[in-house]
Amino acid sequence: MNTKELDKKYVLPTYARADIEFVSGKNATLTDSEGKKYIDFTSGIGVVSVGHANERVNSSITQQISNITHISNLYNIAPQAKAAQKIVEASGYDMQCFFGNSGAEANEGAIKIARKYGEKDGEIKRYKIITLQHSFHGRTITTVKATGQESMHNYFGPFPDGFVYADDIAHIETLLDDHTAAVMIELVQGEGGVQPQDKEAVQNLEKLLKSKDILLIVDEVQTGGYRTGEFLASQVYGISPDIITLAKGIGGGVPIGVVMTSLKGVLGAGDHGSTFGGNYLSTAATCAVMDILKEAKESGELEETINYFNTELEKLFSENRDLFTQKVGIGMMCGLRVKDADTLNSIIANAKDNGVMVLKAGRNTLRFLPPLTITKEEIDEGFKNLKSAISSI
Ligand SMILES: Cc1ncc(COP(=O)(O)O)c(C=O)c1O
Repeated sequence: MNTKELDKKYVLPTYARADIEFVSGKNATLTDSEGKKYIDFTSGIGVVSVGHANERVNSSITQQISNITHISNLYNIAPQAKAAQKIVEASGYDMQCFFGNSGAEANEGAIKIARKYGEKDGEIKRYKIITLQHSFHGRTITTVKATGQESMHNYFGPFPDGFVYADDIAHIETLLDDHTAAVMIELVQGEGGVQPQDKEAVQNLEKLLKSKDILLIVDEVQTGGYRTGEFLASQVYGISPDIITLAKGIGGGVPIGVVMTSLKGVLGAGDHGSTFGGNYLSTAATCAVMDILKEAKESGELEETINYFNTELEKLFSENRDLFTQKVGIGMMCGLRVKDADTLNSIIANAKDNGVMVLKAGRNTLRFLPPLTITKEEIDEGFKNLKSAISSI
């Protein structure tokens, strides 16, 4: 049986998979099993932030696993401690990290910290978490419930209690009460349509929450790891959240999730844990990713790449105003609103045929999450392919 047949027979059908099998990649260029090349404007949904087959990440991983891959969190783990230092120092916040394996798991950790912080003398006092409509926080039972999209709550109940949905940032204030423990937001909603929040509204929310001792959790699973031009979108917005979650791009393709918080005393030994979280393999990868992206940031290379990509995207937008209604996003998390869902689906299908990978977000957004190390040549090639894809719409 070939891969497609094996998949059909043995893998649960939870994904609507495209019929392509990638066999190799180099930076932002992918090759499929038939030898066809594609420019990757998706980086595996914001994961392969330093490109496919990055030599520094590969060498960090292989050196590490030739010594030790896993022991357990009952012992000191050198790359975990170093990864935590690199993450905290890049953030500029006075925080500590807990390592898990995914974005959903990081958000579970954030919710646990907020709920424990909300207890008074061992009694449940503040437990409600306010999230936004159109948000996305993960696929576990709790993070599905934290996700403010009604369609995500169709099955799987009963869900944990205590999640409240606000229409937008301005609406949050009216929902706060004595039982509110935290507000959890994405600064740029990714799955919800590459929708950035208003900076002033977020800064005002931060002040309001601080005045009421309600925690601000920022889900940076998609925005984190220099995706918006700074290490964290929280830095772009000039805020200091109490809890931040990370995953995707900080592992360069190796599964990792991080919850970081300034509330260092809330969780004690035994309150939270993960067998695999932060093991030698994943944190060796994260150390290399953090070094590569810090250097790209400090040299100005990251900014140059972001500007070049956005200039090309802007050109595509202005040359095709009959298809696109708005350019959205921040940094390398950007998108074009497409006039309708059918047109968007045709663009994505044509793009694949023309050798460029792009994503959909929400109902009508063409989404771009390229590797942050993408070269100008790869950007040019990708937009050339995308223009061909669009010309036949
Ligand atoms: C903002 C945000 N939070 C959480 C998640 C869930 O992450 P994971 O799929 O690693 O569990 C995602 C995934 O797309 C996300 O974009």
